[in-house]
Amino acid sequence: MELVFATNNKHKIKEINDLLDDNFTILGLADTGITEDIPEEAETLEENALFKARYVHEKTGLNVFADDTGLEVPSLGGAPGVHSARYAGESKSFDDNIEKLLREMKDMTERSARFRTVIALILDGSEYLFEGMVEGEIIMERRGSGGFGYDPVFLASGYDLTFAEIPLSEKNRVSHRAKAMRKLIGFLSDQKRTGAGK
Ligand code: IMP
Repeated sequence: MELVFATNNKHKIKEINDLLDDNFTILGLADTGITEDIPEEAETLEENALFKARYVHEKTGLNVFADDTGLEVPSLGGAPGVHSARYAGESKSFDDNIEKLLREMKDMTERSARFRTVIALILDGSEYLFEGMVEGEIIMERRGSGGFGYDPVFLASGYDLTFAEIPLSEKNRVSHRAKAMRKLIGFLSDQKRTGAGK
């Protein structure tokens, strides 16, 4: 089964290829000739993921999936949420985003947070959504140099080490994205068995 993953992120493409067997061929956006940035302007992760998947499907006619992830902090009303990549501003870095998060939460004792990934799949013209979450908390200062994004300040429940301190293989086992990906893969494998999505 051939599917487009609507991303230019080679790490994400490798991550899912490592989880899939030879029955699946994953194309990146570059393989489809789509070079423009697909807008991510919706107000929910679900809408953003669906928008990206529909955009690619309309242009290529191929089966496609797209993901969107956010860090959701209840004490901040769910922020940064769908705006996680640009929390501190349009051209700001991961570090600027962390800086803003720590500043906003400086006096907060309720520090629970979760990463949430939504994957939208369009297979044979039908749309499906898959979700993966990891619960945890935002610590007071950065710890660790691995990972990316908010990893240095995110402590998953049951862990003493942040996502930037644990090995990548361990993060990829328990992360929001891994959980959503596994749901997608389970679904695709069932479809493959029943002969859909050829
Ligand atoms: P995307 O939808 O995967 O591009 O993620 C949007 C933003 O969420 C990223 O720019 C990061 O700031 C944050 N993010 C997504 N996944 C992770 C993660 O695994 N660790 C830390 N931050 C993440």
